[in-house]
Amino acid sequence: MEWYPALASILLFVAVQSCDGGKVLVFPVDGSHWLNMKLLIEALHTRGHQITVLRSSTSWYVSQLSPHYTSITIPLEQPQNMEDQAFMASFLNRSIEIRRHEGTVWAFLAFYSNLFSMLEQSQKTVSLMLTTMFENRTLMQEVKESQYDVVLADPCFPAGPILAHYLKLPLVFNVRWLPTGEAHFAIAPSPMSYVPQLFSLNTDKMDLSQRLKNVFYHGLLFYMFHFVTNPPYQAFCDRYFSNGVNVLSLIQEADIWLMRMDFTFEFPRPTMPNVVYIGGFNCRPSKPLPSDLEAFVHSSGDHGVVVMSLGTLFGNLGPEISEVIAAAFARLPQKVVWRYLGQQPSNLGNNTLLVKWLPQNDMLGHPKTRAFVTHGGTNGIYEAIYHGVPVLGIPLVFDQFDNMVRLKSLGVAEVVEVTTLEVESLTRALQNVLDPEKPYRDNMHRLSQLHHDKPLKPMDSATFWVEFVMRHKGAAHLRTESYKLPWYVYHSIDVIMLLVISGLFMVALFCALCTCLMRALARRGKAKHE
Ligand SMILES: *[C@@H]1O[C@H](CO)[C@@H](O)[C@H](O)[C@H]1NC(C)=O
Ligand SMILES: *[C@@H]1O[C@H](CO)[C@@H](O)[C@H](O)[C@H]1NC(C)=O
Ligand SMILES: *[C@@H]1O[C@H](CO)[C@@H](O)[C@H](O)[C@H]1NC(C)=O
Repeated sequence: MEWYPALASILLFVAVQSCDGGKVLVFPVDGSHWLNMKLLIEALHTRGHQITVLRSSTSWYVSQLSPHYTSITIPLEQPQNMEDQAFMASFLNRSIEIRRHEGTVWAFLAFYSNLFSMLEQSQKTVSLMLTTMFENRTLMQEVKESQYDVVLADPCFPAGPILAHYLKLPLVFNVRWLPTGEAHFAIAPSPMSYVPQLFSLNTDKMDLSQRLKNVFYHGLLFYMFHFVTNPPYQAFCDRYFSNGVNVLSLIQEADIWLMRMDFTFEFPRPTMPNVVYIGGFNCRPSKPLPSDLEAFVHSSGDHGVVVMSLGTLFGNLGPEISEVIAAAFARLPQKVVWRYLGQQPSNLGNNTLLVKWLPQNDMLGHPKTRAFVTHGGTNGIYEAIYHGVPVLGIPLVFDQFDNMVRLKSLGVAEVVEVTTLEVESLTRALQNVLDPEKPYRDNMHRLSQLHHDKPLKPMDSATFWVEFVMRHKGAAHLRTESYKLPWYVYHSIDVIMLLVISGLFMVALFCALCTCLMRALARRGKAKHE
């Protein structure tokens, strides 16, 4: 235990030692992913680096002007659908409609075809952005001559790795998702027996049927990569690179993977030397609330407040569901702050305040906050863990169902299904989460303590490793050779075959020798006899 503080201070010392003003080229993913990329950019800017961000002309999350970075705008005709609020509202609407028929084959097929067609559209738009960029010779020349030190990318849309390959620059990821699914699956061994696959809703303890389900979803993601998310980029690579470049291996060549996850939340699993865990790097100590909000929160007395938000993409769930939620809130003795866009539910309780925007981190860090009602996006979940606030989950799409499986298995959340929401059951779920006699709050406090107890803050490790890659022009020594191997070498199939064949050969040889010997003995015996 004694060496621990010493180690911590050494690490801190190393971390605050900056490498002087590097040049970072950032290829972000728009929408909620941008929010945490932006925080990393601000941290790098504070440490004296020059940052350039690639954005499309249709982006309204990634602003063109910023005190923290300069931007290069690529002209695009249409926005990427994930940043189009009207599109996302209708996508969500359809997902919820489909989930009303859950359990049928139709619902399964409709749910994933809805999801995949949405992903396919986004991927196509981003690959179009890349093509537009590569077609502009002047721009590419400028980018090349700018002599960046590193490319920082979110590889959920793998334009960043392709650009880094073209520019021959070291590559750092700020990552949780790839076009293949969860990022670890592309680089680290991921035994299907205890590593739950995306969409499977499994924990790390699986019986036979759950393991079957795990393998099934593995197959679904294989399909997604090869037929939905990869084709636009592979077509791009085939066109612009001569020597059969493969998108997945460009991704696997990254120097450092800053993974937006933490094992207080994720199930333990095998990992790699170039993976750095920065889950919760978006969280900060809370700042004081704006005075009107503070007055409202303060008026809650000892009961405290409940905070509800469905994240950046979804403003509300339509009038029917919103009225159920409003009715349940109205029954609570707590006050409620609800981030809500659209028409006010008719039955809104007088304890509930609707706001169009919420300082979520500051709200969750407020000492009067008792529970967080969320769709289960990871930014919000890590803020809840950081501040020790128990959760009521209403998962809607994407990874949110799996995230809630994790929180539930940690005993820090109740989960409700949005399509069968009723005032009675929702009220009960809320009361459970709020009840200090129930274990949710204590479990969340314990999780929060574990999350905070580390030698280096997640943001400090993130900036340290970006600078490390700039200082050493990459981190190839941390990267395994696995991605260069064909599958039969990776799994040692060739070795096993060789051993089996030589084993069989030895057995055959032994048998043949025995037969010869027997015959010889028999012949000699016969000769003696005669
Ligand atoms: C959602 O769909 C329902 C019927 O399918 C429709 O009545 C409603 O207006 C839609 N809401 C939004 C926000 O698109
Ligand atoms: C190409 O890039 C240059 C430099 O960024 C820009 O001035 C020009 O307008 C671009 N050309 C086209 C056709 O987009
Ligand atoms: C809020 O509503 C409840 C019942 O709906 C009522 O008893 C209470 O007086 C109201 N409070 C205020 C401040 O209007």
